[in-house]
Amino acid sequence: MKTDRDDFLNYLRTLRTRWSLNLRTEDAVKHPDFAETSLVYEGPRPREIILDHLEPILEQGDRHLGADHATLSTAQVLVKAQEKIRGKVVCEVGCGTALLSIVCYRLGARRVLATDIDPECLAYARENVKLNRAEVSFFQGNLLECVPRTEPIEVILGNLPQKPSPGLRAFSIAYRGGYDGTALLRKWIVQASERLNRGNHLYLFYHSLANPQVLQVLNRDFDVLLKAWKRRIFTHRELEGILPHISRLKKEGKSFFEVHDASSGQYFFYGMVLEGIRR
Ligand SMILES: C[S@@+](CC[C@H](N)C(=O)[O-])C[C@H]1O[C@@H](n2cnc3c(N)ncnc32)[C@H](O)[C@@H]1O
Repeated sequence: MKTDRDDFLNYLRTLRTRWSLNLRTEDAVKHPDFAETSLVYEGPRPREIILDHLEPILEQGDRHLGADHATLSTAQVLVKAQEKIRGKVVCEVGCGTALLSIVCYRLGARRVLATDIDPECLAYARENVKLNRAEVSFFQGNLLECVPRTEPIEVILGNLPQKPSPGLRAFSIAYRGGYDGTALLRKWIVQASERLNRGNHLYLFYHSLANPQVLQVLNRDFDVLLKAWKRRIFTHRELEGILPHISRLKKEGKSFFEVHDASSGQYFFYGMVLEGIRR
């Protein structure tokens, strides 16, 4: 019988043949499927986020702003990659409530920088840094442009907006990724490539609704390793505003999702945490 893993490997094979992607998968672990019903955290604040090997992290935020399953998958990968974070200057781009920045501080980064375009996120991020007695330098602005070139960045992180969005109204700024989902990712990868030296690391969350061609851009200057993957299950209702759009992109090989359970109108796409090593 075919397993979820077989299906995922098949998806990766398609990426390899169609987009000539060279993605190393030997370290990849499967994270649990994530279903839309638990997307929004509505419990008490600050909430306690528990990650293996770290003291609980307190997170202030609200219904629209806060760590989600993609943040937590990325955080788990960073904890496992501690030796690549310890002693390094790390910059998180699009930090939201700054959970990943705080994780890097706890993992022993020499200095942590974080950017976001949204002042409301930065207010929560500053509060969270205080709550967790961490140290992070914040910059408000577009991607990496607001970080002075004099900062010697050695590791760059990003869980950036990447939902294909035909119009501005489909999603908030935290999720809107432009026509094929890659508007910000493409710019960010080019900027990161300019700022990092040979052997430096980049970590990103990528999901399969966004055009995989962006991974070709990543592959130009980086060796790319898949560290974790999961299925993100969603309902027709959750993404109905963009379903016709992503269905068109899917026919062109520029977006991927599949039916999960036809009777309850559920679909899934893949979420992946990738590590890039600057060549
Ligand atoms: C999907 S959220 C992730 C937040 C956080 N990194 C996390 O993992 O919880 C994306 C973040 O990118 C920020 N963002 C959107 N456009 C941006 C841009 N052009 N430059 C910097 N940050 C941006 C949003 O405000 C939001 O906080």
